[in-house]
Amino acid sequence: MHVPSILVVDDEPMISGMLEKVLKRKHYNVKIADSGKLALESLHDGEFDLVITDVYLPDYNGMEILRKAKQADPSTGVIVITAHSSVESAVEAMKVGAYDYLTKGFSLDEIELTVEKFFKYQRLVKENELLRSELGSRYGIENIIGNSPEMQNVFEIVEMVAPSNATVLIQGASGTGKELIAKALHQKSHRRDRPLVKTNCAAIPEGLVESELFGHEKGAFTGALRTTKGRFEMADGGTLLLDEISEITPNLQAKLLRVLQEKEFERVGNPESVRVDVRIIATTNSEVPDEIAKGNFREDLYYRLNVVPIHLPSLKERREDIPLLVEHFFEKYTAENKRSIDGIEQSALDQLMQYDWPGNVRELENTVERAVVICRDKHIGPQHIYFGSNGRKFVAAGKRPPSDNPNDLQSEATTLRAMEKQLILKTLSEENNNRTRSAKKLGISVRTLRNKLQEYRREDDRDEP
Ligand SMILES: Nc1ncnc2c1ncn2[C@@H]1O[C@H](COP(=O)(O)OP(=O)(O)OP(=O)(O)O)[C@@H](O)[C@H]1O
Ligand SMILES: [Mg+2]
Repeated sequence: MHVPSILVVDDEPMISGMLEKVLKRKHYNVKIADSGKLALESLHDGEFDLVITDVYLPDYNGMEILRKAKQADPSTGVIVITAHSSVESAVEAMKVGAYDYLTKGFSLDEIELTVEKFFKYQRLVKENELLRSELGSRYGIENIIGNSPEMQNVFEIVEMVAPSNATVLIQGASGTGKELIAKALHQKSHRRDRPLVKTNCAAIPEGLVESELFGHEKGAFTGALRTTKGRFEMADGGTLLLDEISEITPNLQAKLLRVLQEKEFERVGNPESVRVDVRIIATTNSEVPDEIAKGNFREDLYYRLNVVPIHLPSLKERREDIPLLVEHFFEKYTAENKRSIDGIEQSALDQLMQYDWPGNVRELENTVERAVVICRDKHIGPQHIYFGSNGRKFVAAGKRPPSDNPNDLQSEATTLRAMEKQLILKTLSEENNNRTRSAKKLGISVRTLRNKLQEYRREDDRDEP
């Protein structure tokens, strides 16, 4: 078995001695360097999983040790020890890639916890890399997950048409992954080194869509202070993603049809034609044929756009993909939040499997992220699952309805921040306001807890009339 090795860099024998004692008790291999020079030599000679270094060394700056350690092996963790007065250097250290920092006066508990957290984090990152490479090869394109026949079919079409210049119309409900598929089409085409330009037709005020797409000359209309390129020109050589295509007006539909047929257009306020080489991908979450029947969308434009149709199924039509997606987002958010949670309980997974997911994959992603952030246990259980954008609690048929007890987290917390606050206050009250015990239970440092409480106090002050 690999015993993790730690290099401790500090010129104060009191501190290095104490660190050595604590870490050896936890069975780590520990080496002490009492100068920057010795530290660099040690880094040169040996491999360390973790380096704990003081910022102020007589001969070197600890930041230099941090950089060198990261250069030698980016997976090496570095924890920086700073004096109270140098929070700026701590922030700088985090930017350069330190895993965490401790301010002088840290407790033994704090150092033990931080080191333990680092090794759990490192293990997760490794597992995640492995999993990702497996997922990528077994289940589809890069980070697009889906083992259901419907999604496998989508992946096949993507592989087939990506290298061509064919216009693609991606249809699917909100959050089904339309943009993700559009990006994959661009990435897998010969245009990948050119821009992928995105424009949301529903988000631009009606009067501005034309100039947004085709650009305008200086003075073409009030407020046109300088000549501006439109999205078509920006995407020249690359791909143009037209989101929510069914939202554009009949007038613009006609203009778009012309670009698709002739590959040329005019900037607003200039009769000269501009030619571009652009591959077009359009998305819509309404059924275009319905819009055609209602007279809202030109049929000839539809046929021009719909050269290759891709239909993305809603999540409830492919429930077998849910466990894979959950695993994917679980790995993503535990790594991102540096959380060491062992897994997800079957009962929680069952709830995720049964829910209808009106917001599709986006909603699932948010739900898993929320669960990871609020979970302070070894496993994610049903008590960590909140459905819907406002964190509604799941009520399975025949189960008791959500309680009104404000101690249960579900009450009014709608954002992650609010949930975090509730959890922190609840834990403090359970631990009789003992901050050390509360912090330990929450898996955060006493320092972080203190900062959070100060933030809440400031917010509360602001809310008072
Ligand atoms: N098959 C998938 N695998 C992994 N992640 C996915 C998948 N489908 C969607 N996602 C994730 O879900 C979120 C929503 O996806 P995306 O933005 O592509 O949806 P959309 O269909 O464009 O939604 P909207 O109609 O609201 O614009 C993104 O974070 C995306 O990464
Ligand atoms: Mg989208």
